[in-house]
Amino acid sequence: MSLTIDRDRLLSEIDELASFSDAEAPAVTRIVFTPTDLKARAWVKGRCENAGLTVRQDAIGNTFARWNGSDPAAPVVGTGSHIDAIPNAGKFDGVVGVMGGLEAIRGLQQSGFRPRHSIELVIFTSEEPTRFGIGCLGSRLLSGSLSPEAARKLTENDGVTLDEVRRAAGFGSDLERVKLPGGYYEAFIELHIEQGPLLERQETPLGIVTKIAAPASLRILIEGSGGHAGGVLMPDRRDALCAAAELILAIESAARTSGALDTVATVGICEVFPGAVNSIPSRVRLSVDVRDTDLQRRDIVMRAIETTCDLISAKRQVSVHGELLNADAPADCAPAVVEALSQSCRKHELNSIPMVSRAYHDSLFIARIAPVAMLFIPCRNGYSHRPDEYAAPEDIVRGTLVLAETLAVLSS
Ligand code: GLV
Ligand code: MN
Ligand code: MN
Repeated sequence: MSLTIDRDRLLSEIDELASFSDAEAPAVTRIVFTPTDLKARAWVKGRCENAGLTVRQDAIGNTFARWNGSDPAAPVVGTGSHIDAIPNAGKFDGVVGVMGGLEAIRGLQQSGFRPRHSIELVIFTSEEPTRFGIGCLGSRLLSGSLSPEAARKLTENDGVTLDEVRRAAGFGSDLERVKLPGGYYEAFIELHIEQGPLLERQETPLGIVTKIAAPASLRILIEGSGGHAGGVLMPDRRDALCAAAELILAIESAARTSGALDTVATVGICEVFPGAVNSIPSRVRLSVDVRDTDLQRRDIVMRAIETTCDLISAKRQVSVHGELLNADAPADCAPAVVEALSQSCRKHELNSIPMVSRAYHDSLFIARIAPVAMLFIPCRNGYSHRPDEYAAPEDIVRGTLVLAETLAVLSS
């Protein structure tokens, strides 16, 4: 099998996909089920059909593009990632795994290889939590990690339900049918940019992920008392933003003092009401994201946040209400898939290192129903979730080549 990756086609497709965006280039914003996301999905679907793949979509919009193997009864070898992008993101997060996955399949087709197991590219719906508060909606439902009933209740901030939004986007069928049957996958591999600096620092082109960190997120609502910024005396104030400021610093400190670099916590959203320069903030909504490779350590931080909420509430006479959106367990990658990736790296004389993924991915949930591993490529300065996110063409091509090689081995 002589396997080649069409570098120009792959890079130009990554660029073209970036043009479906609600932000000015180089930033990419592509929120799930917006008109822009729907146009991007249609474009990707067209590329898959051009490659002769059979495309189906499920009720949450997960898109599967299948290259049929010679044994239709054999479990599927899967690959893929997501194309939704958080506000003001870059063009590689998720996209490398989707367009790289498609290019890997096309490379294998052109090499003359014929799989025994079907190879299926999946574009997961809403890996990013932007619209409904929790990430990995598609893979949570596919793996049975989120019940259809709980999914139907998810809402946007303005109260519109996921069910209404998906139906308006043209996905109206039964959510109960999204969960995959047991034994669906033989193996699953996700190619992704590292989103951290380690591969670049170690001058290593590829990382093979052995473990994916455990994410948790909270929404916290703080309610104090508003009023005139001149008239209300300082001793009489119950300023919700001052309470939030104290809480944010306590969250940072809880993560910093965990004793491990793998513990991270971020307050990424702080909405202040009413938001006027001469009005005391009466209400603040925070979003908190806590992660660790170790579940116990992460949960110590979660408990510290809870205790601090109570202390600040009592001290500042404000109400503090926390809503847990998700608290997921970490995932271990499957040794056999990790080994298959390592062997492919060796075959192509490419160095690789084992890594932990500190970002979460759909693979975190697919790992609950399938043997999974992930392949990381470097990204400049470790930048991700920002417009200057960058992966070098040669790294994208190397990752795609190793993915293709491994898909071939696993599907034979
Ligand atoms: C996924 O984008 C994450 O936040 O890790
Ligand atoms: Mn992301
Ligand atoms: Mn991603």
